[in-house]
Amino acid sequence: MSERITELISEEKVDERISELGAQISKDYAGKQVHLICILKGASFFMCELAKRITVPVSIDFMSVSSYGGGTESSGVVRIVKDLEKPVKDKDVLIVEDIVDSGRTLAFLEDLFKDRGCASVKCVSLLDKPDRRVVDAKVDYTGFIIPDKFVVGYGMDYDERYRNLPFIGVVHLDDD
Ligand code: IMP
Ligand code: MG
Repeated sequence: MSERITELISEEKVDERISELGAQISKDYAGKQVHLICILKGASFFMCELAKRITVPVSIDFMSVSSYGGGTESSGVVRIVKDLEKPVKDKDVLIVEDIVDSGRTLAFLEDLFKDRGCASVKCVSLLDKPDRRVVDAKVDYTGFIIPDKFVVGYGMDYDERYRNLPFIGVVHLDDD
């Protein structure tokens, strides 16, 4: 099947918004160290850009979870594919997500990190599709609210492709 990509949010707009998020997070975490947990692979591009714009001390770790197969619909079951390297007990954890869709992944992670005894757990997501929410999950910092469209670029994929696009685009399948 062939597909087309159209631009939804330009590289400049994304950069500008990440700077604002970095400034807000730096203010809110004043006097603390923020422990960024990048949810692989999609959030990796966003996390690097965000981390560079945070002025309080930052540490980072990575986790990979899976709720999707190869397509555009969540399977509904979240599992840990790669766990963190270091314990998160007593740390001020900021989950870094590319996009919150059904909310299942984020709800799972928030519960997991609370169980592991973090000092605090918050989430920053580059994108949010609130129309798609099926479980309660709180995003503390949102880059952009977007409509119910499947997006790619800036780390996000469609079947592992398009992560390298510098902007955020919408995927149109050939019958669109
Ligand atoms: P949720 O558990 O349904 O909220 O799904 C969250 C995860 O699904 C995100 O971290 C993405 O990896 C993936 N995802 C959801 N929507 C999209 C999309 O439009 N494009 C690419 N990946 C998406
Ligand atoms: Mg993801």
